[in-house]
This record gives sequence, C-alpha cells and structure tokens, in this order.
Amino acid sequence: MTDLERPVYAANWKMHKGPSATRTFVREFRDRYGTHEDRTVLFFPPSISVPAFREASEGREDLGLGVQDVHEETEGAHTSAVSASMAADAGCEWGLAGHSERRREFGDTDEQVATKVARLAEEGVRPVLCVGETLEQRRAGHLEDVLSRQVERGLSAVEPSTRREVVFAYEPVWAIGTGETAEPDDAREAHRHVRDAVRRSVDDDAAESAVILYGGSVKPHNARELLETPGLDGVLVGSASLTPESFAQICRALDD
Ligand code: 13P
Repeated sequence: MTDLERPVYAANWKMHKGPSATRTFVREFRDRYGTHEDRTVLFFPPSISVPAFREASEGREDLGLGVQDVHEETEGAHTSAVSASMAADAGCEWGLAGHSERRREFGDTDEQVATKVARLAEEGVRPVLCVGETLEQRRAGHLEDVLSRQVERGLSAVEPSTRREVVFAYEPVWAIGTGETAEPDDAREAHRHVRDAVRRSVDDDAAESAVILYGGSVKPHNARELLETPGLDGVLVGSASLTPESFAQICRALDD
C-alpha cells in the first residue's frame, strides 16, 4: 500500500452519479482543481461508476479511486454485492468500511465491518474504517466508549502487521447530511479517542502516525477551520463533493 500525502480530501458520492455523470464530473473537476502533489484526493463513486471514473481520470494518478463497501465474503451467492478482490481488480486502491449509513440501513455489525476491513487489506486495498457516535450516545456520555469499541473491533480481524495501514474516518452520525458540523474542539477530542484506541490495538507508533479524517457536513466555508484542527488529517465529504466547484474549493481550502 502506498504512502499518502496529508491532508486527505475524500469524496463519498454515496448513491449519486452513474457512469455518465461521473465522466462529466471528472472532466470538470480536472479543470477546476488543477494538479497538486502535496495532498491526497480520493473519490468513492458508486461501484457501477468505478470503470467510468477510472477511464475519465486516466493519466491522473493523483486522483485516487475507492469502493464504498465490500461484502465480507470473497465470493458467493450474495446478489448485488461486490467483493474486495473485485474492487481491487476494478482498480480501487481504497475501500470504505463501516460507514454509518451501512451500519444503520444495512445492519452492518462491528464484526462484519472487521471482516470487511480485513478483506480489503488482504487484497491490498487500503481500508478507511468509519466510526462515529449517534446524538443519543453523545448525550449519554458514551462518546469514548463507542469510538473505542468501533476502532478496536474494526481492527480486530486485520493482521497485526497491516493494522497500521488502516485509515480512519470520524463521522459523527448527527453531523452527516444535517448541516450540523462538529466544533473543532469536539472533533479534536473524538480524534484523540480514535488515536488512543489505535494505541491499544496496535502500538504508539501506529497511534501517532494514524491518518484520521473528519466527515459530517464539511463545506467550502468550514473546511479550512476543520483542517487546521490539530490531529485532523483530512476530510471525508458527502454532499459538497457532488459538484466539481465546491469539492475543488474544499481541496484548496488551505491554499490561501
Ligand atoms: P455530508 O458531507 O453530506 O454530511 O456526508 C458526510 C459523509 O457521510 C461522508 O462519508
């Protein structure tokens, strides 16, 4: 797996953009964003649009490509699912696991998420383990418990030697798609809990070097303040990544 430049700007398109819209986006984004080697830019299109993304971004090694989810089995009778090896074969170098929408809508458990993380890592696809608390959990004072459990269980099936390759995304469930964003101090505290859990699961080095993204209503107007928060290594962007101009603005948020 490759080294990555920080900050990381990642676009999770969720169930938006088929192949045609993907090609149009990439064409426009290439013009608006330009080329910058001092950061990492990643896209997670729907899996049906992965080949279109790959084709449209040919020659642009700086635009990384990932899969939004994989099945925990390697193959079999699982209608509609894709496996980590298929994602690797299609050119995905990155893979999300445990997004809160998967946990909520599809019932992904910590154990399934752990297996997905392991499958991705086995295929050389760099896992991005998504964690985050609900509003009820936060109000009940369970933030640290929830994040520790999700990180520790999420890493539990990965070979110890590859655990340090896993990237994390802290996405408070109450901030996703709501226009509510965590205050920088809240994000900093949550990222510290994630790092502490990595320390317990791996070691001090892995905790210090862990890449932890923040996601939840990141927009052009708040990206800079978030990215300047100590311990926050990048952003995972949903709705504001759907238009080339707003995502390009986020990717340039620290430039001036
Ligand atoms: P929004 O940026 O739309 O809140 O989505 C965040 C997210 O879930 C990214 O994975």
